[in-house]
Parts: sequence; structure tokens; C-alpha cells
Amino acid sequence: MSQVISSARVGHLYQQTIPQLGVGLLYNPSLELYLQACPDSCDYVEIIPDMFWTDRGNGQPERFEEIESWMNVLDKIAAHYPLTSHNISYSLGSAGIFDKAYLEKMKEWHQRYGFKWHSDHLSFVKVHNDQQEEHNAGLAVPVPYDYEVLDMIGGRINAIKRAIPTPFLVENNVYFIDLPDQELSETAFLNELSNDTSCGLLLDIHNVYTNAVNHHFDPKEFITQLQLDKVIEIHIAGGNELGGMYTDSHAGPCPPAVWDLLDYTLPLVPNLCGITFEFHESYFHLLQFDGITRELNRAKAAWHLYHT
Ligand SMILES: [Fe+2]
Repeated sequence: MSQVISSARVGHLYQQTIPQLGVGLLYNPSLELYLQACPDSCDYVEIIPDMFWTDRGNGQPERFEEIESWMNVLDKIAAHYPLTSHNISYSLGSAGIFDKAYLEKMKEWHQRYGFKWHSDHLSFVKVHNDQQEEHNAGLAVPVPYDYEVLDMIGGRINAIKRAIPTPFLVENNVYFIDLPDQELSETAFLNELSNDTSCGLLLDIHNVYTNAVNHHFDPKEFITQLQLDKVIEIHIAGGNELGGMYTDSHAGPCPPAVWDLLDYTLPLVPNLCGITFEFHESYFHLLQFDGITRELNRAKAAWHLYHT
């Protein structure tokens, strides 16, 4: 908890130091009682800010309405744990428009909650028509790994960094269809993006595993192709099979392959600041309190092998 990564160690990626937090949980509503019962089970809590408000849509008056009951819970969590922010609505890959009102809302929340870092996915969820009317795809749609897209997303990350000085990370995404004739591989795209913008990487090991199962590649080879000194956070999670594909459903405990990949990766990521366990509340019954603690303790044991 006490160590920090200096800006020099990550190649002047950031203007300030990044604290090494340890092992955290991605918040979902089933964790309210768990965190009350087991307050020392994790070192930090990652939140999805979008869960705490109603968003009436870009351009609407009084667009963001914070949900009082959820905010009460968030304030209790913020009083006890360091927070990180995992966003789902920067929609970095939306060709139509970049949502500056969402960025302004997040700027306000960074001032309020002091997130240690923030992140979003290499994907898009917002789709716009010719009249700039916005629709939500309902899932994170992968982007083509082309230079034109790289330039567009790089510009958006730079806009985020200008507005919010907190370190920003980009997470590798899941894809169920492999787009043909792309100019870059996923790893080359992420590396170039990180070099161009000085963003960090959020390596979701379960997403790598999901893609490796569905598209038949070696996940360890994928991981070693990344610029691993840029990895600031790791996500671990579980999944399940649906329609002949393996999915990133966050279905309870991590499979053994994810633990194996975590053990493989940890000695290779010198600037890692946190390992976050993600599960969806609809799979709480597969974990219960004991199961959550078991996953966190397993991650802590791995973390402490390489971090004091
Ligand atoms: Fe993730």
C-alpha cells in the first residue's frame, strides 16, 4: 500500500506518481454487504461511475441524475478505500462524436473522489446517425486495428488527459468476430496507442484468455507482445460458454487458466499497481462471501510474490 511507482520508472508516462494499491474488487451491488462484513478483504475498490447515475443522453437538460441510494453506498466505500474508476462511456472508438459532456462529468467526479487512476475499453458503445442522434449498442463493440482509428482514439485519449491529470489506462477488449484485413495486430495497436498518448495499459487477462479460446492463439504469446512496462492494472475474472463461444461474462470464480496466466504475467510487469477481481452480481451465488475472499486471497498471494 505504501509504495508508489515514480514517473521516471514508467518512462515519464505521467506527471505524478501512481500508488501501488494491491488487490481490489470491481464494485457491484452484491458487494455492499460483503465489504461491511469483510472490510479488510481488499486494498481498493474500482467503480463504474455510470452505475451511480441515470444518464438522460447527450444534449438533454440535467443529463446526469445521481441515484441517491447508490451515492450513499459510494460515499461509505470512498471513506474506507482508495478508489479507481473503470469507465464504460468514453466510447473511445465511436466515429461519430466524442462525448465532451461525459468528460466534464468525469472531471467533476475525479475532483470529488480522487481516483488513483481511470480507464476505459478499446471499443465503442455509442453509435450516431447523420443527425448526430445517439444510440447505445449495449455492449463494447471492438474497433478495427487501423491507423485511422489509432489517430482518432489517440486524439480522444489526449483530450481526456488534458481535462483530467489522473493516469488513464486502456483495456484490451473481447471480440467474437475476427475482422479481416486489419493494418495492425491488437498488441501492436495497444503498444502504438500507449506510445502516442502516454496512456497506460489495463491488461484484462480473462479477455485475453477468452479471445485465445475463441480464436485459437497462445495467450502467453499475446501477453509477451505487449509493452509490459506500460501495464498498470490487471483484471481477472471468470466466464462461461454460450452458443459455442467462450464469453467474458464475469461468471464467478476465475478458471485455472486465468490463475496460470496471472502467475506467468506478474514477473513481467514491473510497474503494476493493482490486480482487480471482476464478477457480475448475477453470479454471486457461485461465490458467496467465502468464494469472493478465496479469489482475493489467491490474487494477494500472487501479488505479494512480486510486490511488498
Ligand atoms: Fe475487464
